[in-house]
Amino acid sequence: MKEVPTPIHVMRMMHRYIADAYRELSLKEKGVLQFCLTEGSEKINCYFTANGDELTFTEGISDTYNVRLDCSLANWLALADNRLNPVIGVLFRRLKFTGDVSYFKKIIPKDLYAVDLTSVSDKVTAFEVAPSKEWEKPRKVLLLDSSPRGTKGYTKLYCDNMVSFLQEKDVEVNHIMLSQYNIQPCLGCLQCWLKTDGECILKDDVKDLYKLYEESDLIIYAFPLYAYGVPGMLKNFMDRGVIKQYPYFEKGTSQIRHPRRVHANKAFVVFSICGFPSFHQYDAVKPFFKLYSHSSHSPLIAEIYRPGGIFLLQNPFNYLKLKKFMEALRSATHEIIDLGRIQPKTQKRLNSKLDERAFLKSTNKYWDNLYKNKNADY
Ligand SMILES: Cc1cc2nc3c(=O)[nH]c(=O)nc-3n(C[C@H](O)[C@H](O)[C@H](O)COP(=O)(O)O)c2cc1C
Repeated sequence: MKEVPTPIHVMRMMHRYIADAYRELSLKEKGVLQFCLTEGSEKINCYFTANGDELTFTEGISDTYNVRLDCSLANWLALADNRLNPVIGVLFRRLKFTGDVSYFKKIIPKDLYAVDLTSVSDKVTAFEVAPSKEWEKPRKVLLLDSSPRGTKGYTKLYCDNMVSFLQEKDVEVNHIMLSQYNIQPCLGCLQCWLKTDGECILKDDVKDLYKLYEESDLIIYAFPLYAYGVPGMLKNFMDRGVIKQYPYFEKGTSQIRHPRRVHANKAFVVFSICGFPSFHQYDAVKPFFKLYSHSSHSPLIAEIYRPGGIFLLQNPFNYLKLKKFMEALRSATHEIIDLGRIQPKTQKRLNSKLDERAFLKSTNKYWDNLYKNKNADY
């Protein structure tokens, strides 16, 4: 069971960092560093012994020491972290050294965290920052249709149209229905990071799906909106993407993220339909995919949201609107392939609003019919 560290645990943890640095830097110095620290009314006495090969930790007060530090735990942490200058610390009586002060410097390096990450580094790419400037026509597109209703879903109907639009541009399209695959939820064990070099311990279809993902240049996440987010099976698939990353951390474009195991220019597109007629239904999904884009190092080059996606198909009065939407979807798909983005005028056509009054009246009628006919298939 995990516990909040006590002051002596903190000192043990500090020791581990310093002992690693002592070994890695082959410091070879010998002697004893004595700590007599306070945290509130608690006294923390412990010492580090350097024997030329390693640095050991002992609780209590040593009979002999090279240098002893008396101060609060907070001041010692500030000193170790280079936030407190030792001269200022002594002058302002925040630190009291007894013995050979220079010995501290010999044992404790200035930067305890100097880790060489060059082998796993995954720097921000020009493609990620300005994908349409660096754009090359994608060869392979992976369309992940994530409707739990699979072939019965309206999502598939829209996806089928997108597939034919994509094929008009001579790209290879792999239309995958996630509902037909076994995708178990991530257990968070991180064996893939720490033990198996990117292999998940769960034996299901995710490995094969990520193989298809790696082989594709453009990914289209298509899904019906569920509770203002992506359906669980898509979220499970995305969570399992942890296998593609290293456990390290590195600065990305806007914040810190993990480096990937496989570096490749890969962009993605989001396509979704939902039941309600308002674009506000997507207020949570938009920032979610922006963050996902950053963490997956893949630029999000286009977002197509179709609120009232069922209403548009089911209500005969929407026929012309539906036709216009499909034409806009066709233009958008072609622009994505040619330019790596959707032109503003096309985006405007895609984002045409639906009439809320008509929606309320006709949708209630539609659902009332289904509700009363218990065998209805929607
Ligand atoms: C569990 C569940 C949650 C849903 N949540 C939302 C929602 O938050 N907003 C919305 O507009 N529609 C919501 N819907 C409606 C679906 O988006 C709509 O049924 C879907 O787009 C139909 O696609 P499909 O035929 O591929 O399943 C939800 C539907 C289900 C089953």
